[in-house]
Amino acid sequence: MTGSAHIVEEIARLKKEQNAILLVHNYQPAEVQDIADITGDSLELSRAAATMEGDVIVFCGVDFMAETAAILSPNKTVLLPAEEACCPMAQMISADELRLAKERHPDAAVVCYVNSSADVKAESDICCTSSNAVKVVNSVKEDTIIFVPDRNLGQYAQRFTKKKILPWEGFCIVHDRITPAQVHEARAAHPDAVLLVHPECRPEVIDLADHVESTSGIIRQVCASKKKEFIIGTENGILHRLKKECPDKCCYPLSTDAICRNMKKTNLTKVRDSLQTLRPRITVPEDIADRARGAIERMLVL
Ligand code: 13P
Ligand code: SF4
Repeated sequence: MTGSAHIVEEIARLKKEQNAILLVHNYQPAEVQDIADITGDSLELSRAAATMEGDVIVFCGVDFMAETAAILSPNKTVLLPAEEACCPMAQMISADELRLAKERHPDAAVVCYVNSSADVKAESDICCTSSNAVKVVNSVKEDTIIFVPDRNLGQYAQRFTKKKILPWEGFCIVHDRITPAQVHEARAAHPDAVLLVHPECRPEVIDLADHVESTSGIIRQVCASKKKEFIIGTENGILHRLKKECPDKCCYPLSTDAICRNMKKTNLTKVRDSLQTLRPRITVPEDIADRARGAIERMLVL
């Protein structure tokens, strides 16, 4: 038996012992996706965290995702195997900065992308993910919206609403560096391919795309399409799932550099160790969790 096959067996045994489930984001390394109970985008994984049976959630993703799971399932033990896996965009806003913005715009609602810390969610009216940002923005009664922290997602939602969106100046360091020049190059190399991009991309890249979707939205579109070739404008971990679920399709990365180092910090050894030790455990102080839960649950009922 190879070393990794042995670790996979140990993980299966420990999962049973601990009554644990493994939630894995679409950007995770292939070996981690392959042992998932559920692989999905942020919205699917939040829903799973809120509704799944079991005592332990092993969250293979980054910190804000595990925090969201801990907020939604306060009675479960939530583990983040790669303790240092964070989202740089989530760190581009603090609760203090958001409080100041709210003072400056007292009539505005705050819509908060889930890629944010628990205390920023606690200051927000409602959360959104990349798959429901437009729906969430249009669901609030206020005409002005402070949209945090992703300016690209905020500007994307602005295309589909009459409300005035005030986007925060945060961005994803992986998606924001994809350029229109890369789109032209990929289109020239694959003239028959359909271009799908994530809404964390810059507006000038979104302008050139055929479809704009969350990670699971991209997978659904590719699987359902009659076309054969696709250019994928998001983090390249998604290509593993595309290959598994749509083996008859050819998917090319829009940018070979589109790799989120934080998402790649998880590995099989860390998953095994976290199940053995029930660490690193993610918890959120109760007062913050209670307020943040309101913002997340308002999104989930939509
Ligand atoms: P989704 O999976 O919700 O599309 O999110 C992308 C992302 O950047 C998560 O960090
Ligand atoms: Fe954050 Fe971007 Fe990495 Fe997602 S891909 S975790 S938004 S840095």
